[in-house]
Amino acid sequence: MCPCLLLALILATTNSLPSGALGADDAVLKPRVPADQIEQVRTWKNPLPLTQESMEKGKQLFEGKAFCLTCHGRDGKGLGGDIEPGTLKGPLPRNFTDRDWQATRTDGELFWILKNGSKGTAMAPFIPLILTEEEAWQVLLYVRSFGQGRNTP
Ligand code: HEC
Repeated sequence: MCPCLLLALILATTNSLPSGALGADDAVLKPRVPADQIEQVRTWKNPLPLTQESMEKGKQLFEGKAFCLTCHGRDGKGLGGDIEPGTLKGPLPRNFTDRDWQATRTDGELFWILKNGSKGTAMAPFIPLILTEEEAWQVLLYVRSFGQGRNTP
């Protein structure tokens, strides 16, 4: 077989993989909220309307005083420039642009993580020490914006 045919074959096979193959794996999609709370937590809704102002505040918090970008990256895809993967204990930060992950998590679950952290990982609780509840909802509007129309690994 000529090498170009081989390459075409490899590309064709790669493209036919389910899109999830480039996105979150099962370990990432597994709920982080304990089973005895998750039903209730999933009913929590972001009380803030999606306005330019709230979104802008969320972005400022993400990149500023709440330093989310040091671990989640300015582009939301994972590690920021400051952190080496080996230095974090437990699972690595999410790729917030992954639509499978975005669709799996409810706003309530994300809020719960900001309140309680994610046990056994580098994700610490941010409410109330660093974020007020209102600020947490603002930053979550911004986290959601990474999933809109973008699905890049
Ligand atoms: C010290 C590094 C670090 C910082 C700073 C950090 N995170 Fe995280 N975050 C992580 C890691 C690692 C995970 C993955 C934890 C896991 O697998 O459960 C995570 C998980 C999350 C999750 C839940 C993901 C899920 O699958 O349920 C959300 C939401 C989140 N972070 C938002 C934020 C926001 C917003 C900020 C800033 C206020 C922030 N993080 C700051 C490391 C960090």
